[in-house]
Amino acid sequence: MKVLMINGSPRVNGNTSIALGEMKKVFEAEGVEAEIVQVGNKDVRGCIACRRCAELGKCVFDDVVNELAPKFEEADGLVIASPVYYASANATLIATLDRLFFSTHFDKSMKVGASVVCARRGGCSATFDELNKYFTITNMPIASSQYWNSIHGREQGEANEDEEGKQTMRVLARNMTFLMKSIALGKEKFGLPETEEHAWTHFIR
Ligand SMILES: Cc1cc2nc3c(=O)[nH]c(=O)nc-3n(C[C@H](O)[C@H](O)[C@H](O)COP(=O)(O)O)c2cc1C
Repeated sequence: MKVLMINGSPRVNGNTSIALGEMKKVFEAEGVEAEIVQVGNKDVRGCIACRRCAELGKCVFDDVVNELAPKFEEADGLVIASPVYYASANATLIATLDRLFFSTHFDKSMKVGASVVCARRGGCSATFDELNKYFTITNMPIASSQYWNSIHGREQGEANEDEEGKQTMRVLARNMTFLMKSIALGKEKFGLPETEEHAWTHFIR
């Protein structure tokens, strides 16, 4: 069982890393392999809507997005984590996620998703909602915790002092593990839910 964790912070060993580190310890204790990939410090451009991915099966820009794609395909769960910038997610992370979700065509249904946000003070729940939207358009159930998944800190390392934030992350990782294991059993017993051909309509017709 594997989890891919994407860190949208540009700061290596920043506060978002502390949240993900707290989760990783739990995953490993539960026998779940966890890999963290930091994207916030990489040069990632946004989607240009060229739609070449429909022919290529991957993004036309060969960067970390195409490295993440096979890891995401293999994973049972995906954690996306961001520092809060202006009450929103980090722009590099959004560029990565737009292109990752748009350019990959493997079935993501029943891979478990979880979002994590980190801020000095405000904008956590808006950012949390923003990140969860990637899951809820791809048949991915969302793991939750005992609070919205946020941790607080400004300077590097300050999140270490947020005991409630760290506990939220540990509980989240345990809940996510339970969901992934339960879904694996459910798939064996019942199979994946029946699918329908996607009806693509537009508001102009
Ligand atoms: C450009 C920028 C915008 C920010 N906007 C917010 C904000 O809207 N709300 C907030 O509470 N903190 C804001 N912060 C503070 C960061 O969220 C905070 O320092 C966080 O710990 C960074 O996480 P990291 O160490 O993982 O990068 C902002 C920081 C930067 C650099």
